[in-house]
Amino acid sequence: MGPTETYQLLRHLTSPVVAVTSERTGKRNGMISDSAVRASIVPTIPRLSVYIHKFNFSHDMIFDTGRFVLHLLREDQFDLVHRLGFVSGRARDKLADVPHRLGALGAPVLDDCYAHFECQVANVMDTGSSTCFLGDVKEVGHGTASVARGAVMTAAHFRAQMPAEWRAAYEEHLVQAQRFAEARSRDIRATVWRGLPP
Ligand SMILES: Cc1cc2nc3c(=O)[nH]c(=O)nc-3n(C[C@H](O)[C@H](O)[C@H](O)COP(=O)(O)O)c2cc1C
Repeated sequence: MGPTETYQLLRHLTSPVVAVTSERTGKRNGMISDSAVRASIVPTIPRLSVYIHKFNFSHDMIFDTGRFVLHLLREDQFDLVHRLGFVSGRARDKLADVPHRLGALGAPVLDDCYAHFECQVANVMDTGSSTCFLGDVKEVGHGTASVARGAVMTAAHFRAQMPAEWRAAYEEHLVQAQRFAEARSRDIRATVWRGLPP
């Protein structure tokens, strides 16, 4: 089977489209991911994991602070995905016009979302081009918007329903990310998460 067909099959393993926020020395940021999954079956030890590429500004913000907030989004939150997932926070304050507060861990919690999980990093795994962050869920809540919660935004829904004028930028962003990942994916490092006991 060719790489393109394999990649299309792997897309069935993408998850809901989530917003991941972070804060470092006063700078607040948010990005979009479709690689978050539940990482614990124990209700009293809630955990999730998410892959963040190293070229994203959020990567180092999360690595340096050991905390992030992961938000499930409603199926209608296309504008937020566009705002956070198509440009980097290095050059602009992407949360400037997005209503939010700092949560219990000090990272931004967005008012308008389906639900949010405030996470403390419990461990990391290096993939060469990205880091898989394992998060201990410390606080959970629903969005404060008065709109009915409806369905959760999935990657398949986003790809199928995104406005046509965004598609070229989306594809271009993806190609650039794939080039970066191709060059780095085989360079896997043994990464010791400093939060773990020696
Ligand atoms: C639908 C969608 C899914 C994405 N999934 C991921 C992902 O799983 N991991 C990742 O690192 N970036 C992902 N991205 C790309 C980042 O959101 C994007 O590069 C963003 O601009 C990073 O912002 P930052 O540099 O401010 O951190 C996705 C973007 C979109 C639109």
